[in-house]
Amino acid sequence: MEKKENSSQVNQRIEPLTEDQELKELIYLQSKKSILSMAQFHDLEMMYTCAIKEVKTKFEVLSTEFNNRLKRNPISYINSRLKSRDSIFNKLARRNLPFTIESVEQNLNDIAGVRIVCAYIDDIYRLADSFLMQDDITLLKRKDYIEHPKPNGYRSLHLIVSIPVFFSEKKRDMKVEVQIRTIAMDFLASLEHQMKYKKAIPDQEKIIEELKHCANIISETDLKMQELRKHIESVQDEPTEEEILLDKLRQIGKRIS
Ligand code: GTP
Ligand code: MG
Repeated sequence: MEKKENSSQVNQRIEPLTEDQELKELIYLQSKKSILSMAQFHDLEMMYTCAIKEVKTKFEVLSTEFNNRLKRNPISYINSRLKSRDSIFNKLARRNLPFTIESVEQNLNDIAGVRIVCAYIDDIYRLADSFLMQDDITLLKRKDYIEHPKPNGYRSLHLIVSIPVFFSEKKRDMKVEVQIRTIAMDFLASLEHQMKYKKAIPDQEKIIEELKHCANIISETDLKMQELRKHIESVQDEPTEEEILLDKLRQIGKRIS
């Protein structure tokens, strides 16, 4: 009886590992080789969180200034995220990189992510230029997916920057991934991203094609809206009551002197 069980075990077909299982196995083996100190990792997460705050503040300052000058909001909203531990481990495993703090800092550019969403395309470049001009910001990588959209229609301006963060006893240069895009580009990217996480979507090919078509319409609309805004802005405003009064006072002043 026992023998029979054994032989059936021997004859059992070994199914190949799925990609997901392979990744989990790899993560397990890697983590046995070099276990990241969780305390160190926690410290690293704290530092990236502070880098996010620094970058967000810089954009908030630019937004306040532009708002004052242009009399409209150049930034519609700002989102930020710290990459989850699971995503970090998965990315290191996928790229066969060591599980160390140094490896995370050296090889991964998107632990800290800040997304700036604007109404108009020219605001994207205006904000990016003003941000990159600041002398504590070092540009490490720039990818312009607006000039050169991805084949799926994805558009956005990506900047990988390094920013110094001052802590109680140390100063650290931290990497932050900044994505700047319009509301319409963000709308499309969110849906496209959502689709990537669904395993089996019926008619996926068709949906990909339709998303690409939407991306083109969105791009045209973004350009048209910008053109219309420029046209509206170019029209001189009627003088306000205050301006009329000031003008009259100036005339009187001139006559008296
Ligand atoms: P990682 O993808 O982060 O490993 O870096 P990469 O070197 O491929 O950089 P890239 O600038 O192409 O992408 C960085 C990030 O931009 C991604 O993690 C996404 O958040 C976003 N992104 C890039 N391409 C797409 C896309 O086609 N669709 C969507 N929805 N987001 C994208
Ligand atoms: Mg990424």
